[in-house]
Amino acid sequence: MNVPLLDLTAQYATIRDEVAPALQSVIERQAFIMGPEIPELERAIAALSHAKHAIACASGTDALLLPLRTLGLTATDEVIAPSFTFFATAGAIHNAGGRPVFADIDPQTFNITAEAIERAITPRTRAIIVVHLFGQMAPMEAILPIAKKHGLAVIEDGAQSIGARRRIGDTWRMAGELGTVGTLSFFPSKNLGAWGDGGMMVTQDDALAARLAKLRLHGGARQYHHEEVGFNSRLDSLQAAVLLVKLRHLQQWNEARRARAAWYREALSGIDGVEAPVTDQANEHIYHQYTIRAERRDALAAHLKSRGIGYGVYYPLPLHLQPCFADLGFGRGSLPVTEAAMGQVLSLPIYPELTEAQQSAVVGAIRDFYA
Ligand SMILES: Cc1ncc(COP(=O)(O)O)c(C=O)c1O
Repeated sequence: MNVPLLDLTAQYATIRDEVAPALQSVIERQAFIMGPEIPELERAIAALSHAKHAIACASGTDALLLPLRTLGLTATDEVIAPSFTFFATAGAIHNAGGRPVFADIDPQTFNITAEAIERAITPRTRAIIVVHLFGQMAPMEAILPIAKKHGLAVIEDGAQSIGARRRIGDTWRMAGELGTVGTLSFFPSKNLGAWGDGGMMVTQDDALAARLAKLRLHGGARQYHHEEVGFNSRLDSLQAAVLLVKLRHLQQWNEARRARAAWYREALSGIDGVEAPVTDQANEHIYHQYTIRAERRDALAAHLKSRGIGYGVYYPLPLHLQPCFADLGFGRGSLPVTEAAMGQVLSLPIYPELTEAQQSAVVGAIRDFYA
């Protein structure tokens, strides 16, 4: 049985009749730029994220870049970030004029740790990017006091964690709720995916929200008047229309992902050679990825491929080892937990429409490999 890593056509089949009229409505009005769908989506995402403001933009990458630009970074200004993440996290630091400083991760959750952040702080540190990787949150309650002590901005990169939450004290906190700003990506493969690129920034800070809203429109709140140089980084109304429909399903989709993750955990439990992903007890995971650690990972991957089973390796080369960041001085051995993970991680198919027969085929192939 062929099992794709992700099957967006299966999702499309379930929402086709809802999305078509929403798109048609935008087309009839020919209101493609900053139409009413944009503020409607912003209100809905702000509510979901427990945030006062949400500002839509063109991608999850721009959602990182714009707040970084507000910091006015220079080449010696440092921003701490994990190395075990998608390239955009550190690319945005570079493109905002700053210098990425990479910190190691927790071996269980793959998320950046408070201890690693603290070790990486220097007098030149200006901000921290906390990535909530694979769908579960990093320990914000441990990271925020460090940021406060050193006067650092905290950007929560929630590209993979829309709707994820963490119990802090006796309150559930959403991804993006507690940082200076939280960022989301609507890349099609994300849990809430557009039909193209899209992103969102959320914040509790009125002044920052106003500045970000300007920065995405060439730096001017009033057309043809520019207080600073910004970007053309708008979300399309058509994308917002798709996202408003999909948002109605997000909670149920995330629950379906959790159910499939629980099924995998049970089914994988007897197989020597694989470790199921660990959820931090304080977290409600949304399983953007279901990432196992596997012995002889590359051989397992080849075996899965031969059986028609899709997989992903996130990430085969962490950012501190990328050629473009070689001059930052992080050689091999500098981030041991990250470097161990890069050779072991394997992400299995997980999406709401994944059937039990498909999951059985995935686990059966893994079991055969280690038998
Ligand atoms: C952790 C992380 N940060 C940032 C991004 C960038 O988002 P986008 O592709 O929408 O620019 C992504 C996903 O692509 C991501 O996974």
